[in-house]
Amino acid sequence: MMGIILLGAPGVGKGTQAKYISEAFNIPQISTGDMLRAAIKSGTHLGVAAKDIVEHGQLVPDDIVIELVRERVKQDDCKNGYLLDGFPRTINQAHSLKEYGIKVNCVIEINVPHREIITRLSGRRIHVSSGRTYHIKYNPPKNDNLDDITREPLIQRPDDTEDTIIKRLNVYKQQTMPLIEYYNNHHGIKYIKIDGAQDVEMVKQQIINHLTTVSRSLQ
Ligand code: AP5
Repeated sequence: MMGIILLGAPGVGKGTQAKYISEAFNIPQISTGDMLRAAIKSGTHLGVAAKDIVEHGQLVPDDIVIELVRERVKQDDCKNGYLLDGFPRTINQAHSLKEYGIKVNCVIEINVPHREIITRLSGRRIHVSSGRTYHIKYNPPKNDNLDDITREPLIQRPDDTEDTIIKRLNVYKQQTMPLIEYYNNHHGIKYIKIDGAQDVEMVKQQIINHLTTVSRSLQ
């Protein structure tokens, strides 16, 4: 059972790498950001409540995201493990994983300098229904502004404006960074640090190599 957390500031490449990890180890990517955006798009009760908070770069209340993750990991495809992308984001959310017996054996922390993050996020384009992510310069789609697989149009996230990116980086610093110390001091959890400023392929290779070792040690 592989329980993996992807930790890092907005724009460091968590979503990009999550797709590769999920494929390589056959475990689902659980992205609370994607789940919230899907709820906003379909206008559910949760989506209506979360819309303003997400679009202004603040964190949705803990109890809402904790419940989303708790329900999601009960599904059949999580039997061999899961990849938590964007969760936990507060110490309280991390405590809830323990409280509900949601296993974690590995944390991958990705780091990128803030100036580069702003460039990455302002050039990002996403395919809403799949969560696939592109960058107009670093990782462009095959056809201008269209998803490679479905050929549906790509959009720019409303929280990817420079002002909101800066707000999100502050929220990360204040509320999520304490998790670095929390998981570093956590026995039984492998902590891996990755330099996310390298190109996508290099970051991918390093993460896959580390996780292959972790996965062997669990067999
Ligand atoms: P979420 O969707 O989780 O956003 P985030 O953490 O801000 O992360 P991002 O999706 O912005 O970045 P990423 O690290 O995935 O980078 P990506 O791979 O796309 O959360 C959104 C909001 O939902 C939050 O602000 C909050 O309101 C709410 N929320 C979510 N979870 C919550 C929780 N647990 N608690 C409370 N609220 C929650 O890459 C970025 C760009 O860079 C792309 O264009 C990509 O193509 C490019 N790129 C990637 N890697 C590279 C590389 N190596 N070199 C060059 N370019 C690269």
